Amino acid sequence: MKKIGILHGMENTFPQAFVERVNSKGEKDIVAEAVSIDQVVQAKPTDYAVIIDRISQDVPFYRAYLKNAALCGTAVINNPFWWSADEKFFNNCLAEQIGVPVPKTVLLPSHERPTDTGETSFRNLAFPLAWEAMFEYVGFPAYMKPHAGGGWKSVYQVNDPQDLWNKHGETGQLVMMLQEEIKFEDYFRCYCIGQKDVRIMPYEPRNPHHLRYAAEMKATGPAAEKLLATIHDYVLRLNLALGYDFNTVEFAVRDGIPIAIDFCNPAPDADVYSVGHDNFEWVVETAANMAIERAKKQQPGKNNLTWGTFVRDAAFGNPNAEQTPEVPAPAQKPKAAKPTVVGKEPKAAPPVPVSKVPKAAKVPQEPISAVAGTPIPEVPPAPKKAPAKAPKKK
Ligand SMILES: Nc1ncnc2c1ncn2[C@@H]1O[C@H](COP(=O)(O)OP(=O)(O)O)[C@@H](O)[C@H]1O
Ligand SMILES: [Mg+2]
Repeated sequence: MKKIGILHGMENTFPQAFVERVNSKGEKDIVAEAVSIDQVVQAKPTDYAVIIDRISQDVPFYRAYLKNAALCGTAVINNPFWWSADEKFFNNCLAEQIGVPVPKTVLLPSHERPTDTGETSFRNLAFPLAWEAMFEYVGFPAYMKPHAGGGWKSVYQVNDPQDLWNKHGETGQLVMMLQEEIKFEDYFRCYCIGQKDVRIMPYEPRNPHHLRYAAEMKATGPAAEKLLATIHDYVLRLNLALGYDFNTVEFAVRDGIPIAIDFCNPAPDADVYSVGHDNFEWVVETAANMAIERAKKQQPGKNNLTWGTFVRDAAFGNPNAEQTPEVPAPAQKPKAAKPTVVGKEPKAAPPVPVSKVPKAAKVPQEPISAVAGTPIPEVPPAPKKAPAKAPKKK
C-alpha cells in the first residue's frame, strides 16, 4: 500500500477535495489522507510515498520534517530543498537566461539592518548606491516588492524616488526588488502541474479578490492563439528550469508580449471560492493524477524529488563543475593527515579583534536606511495626492 499525504494549513476546500479525488479513483494499493505527524525522528522514514506540501513556507518545523521525509524516500511536492533556496530575484535572473521576458528588476538592501549586524557588516556596499543608474534602468512608476514573498504582502506601486524612500521606510528588514511596472492589456495566472500540465486562466488583479478569476482575455483570433501558445511554452520553460511540480506563473501582457511577473508560488491559491468552479475542478483532478503517478513511480528509500534543469545541469551536465571526491566507505580508515588535537592547533596568525578592523576598508558610517534615503539630484516633485497603494491582500 502506498500512501499519499497532503500537508496543509487553513485551507478548507482544496486539500479535502484532493484526498477525496485520489481515493475515488479506486487505484489499487494507493490511498490519500491528510498527513498526520506525532513525532519527527532523524533519518526515520514517514509512512508516505508522496506528500503534497501546501504550508511549509509558513511553518519551518514542517519544512524540516519534509527534508527528513525526502531524505528517507518520500516524494515531496514541491522539493523542500529547492524551495528553501529559491526566491523571486533569482527567478528573474534565470528567466532572462532561458529566454522568458521579465520586467527590468534590481535588488535593494533592506531598510533596516538585519538583526545582529552593525555598520561594519556593510563595508562591501558602496555609499551611496548607484541610485540614478538603477532608476534610469527600471523607470517610474515602478513596483517594489519583497524578493522572497507572496500573498501580495508588502507590494507597493512607487511613483518617484521620494515615494520610494517613503515606502521603503515601511519595509523593515525585508529585502525588496524594484521593478519596472508593466502596463498590461491582458493578465494571466497559469497553473503548472507535474511540469507538463498547464492551465492558463485570465485574471484581473485590479478586481476585488473574489472576482479576479472572472476575467476574460482581451486578445482575439490568431493573436490570441499565438499568445496562448507562447504563454504555454514560457510556463513549461520556467517550471522545467526551476523544478516545481505544482506552481503558478503570472504574466502581464504588453503589446502582445507576455512578461512573467510572479512565478515562485509553490503553494498556489487553489481555493474554490477564489479560482472558481472550473479551475478548481481542473486543479483537483490534475493534482490527484500527478500524485498517483508519482506514488507509483516512488522507490522506497531512494531520492524521489524533482530537480529542475538549473540544478541538474549545474550538478551533472557541466564540465566546469567541481568534481566532488568520493565519500570513503565507512569501514575504510581515512589515510588523512594526523587529526589536530583540540587545544594543540598549529600556530596560526592571531585573529584580528573585531574592534581593530583594517583601516583600508572604507566603512560607511550611515545605516542602510540612510543609504536608501540619500537625496538624488533632480528628484521630481512629490505628487500632491498620495498615490494609491496596491491592495495588500490577494
Ligand atoms: N512589475 C509589475 N507590473 C505590473 N503589475 C505588477 C508588477 N509586479 C506586481 N504587480 C501586481 O502586483 C500583484 C502582486 O505582485 P506579485 O509579484 O504577484 O506578488 P505576490 O507573490 O505577493 O503575489 C500582481 O498580481 C500584479 O497585479
Ligand atoms: Mg502574485
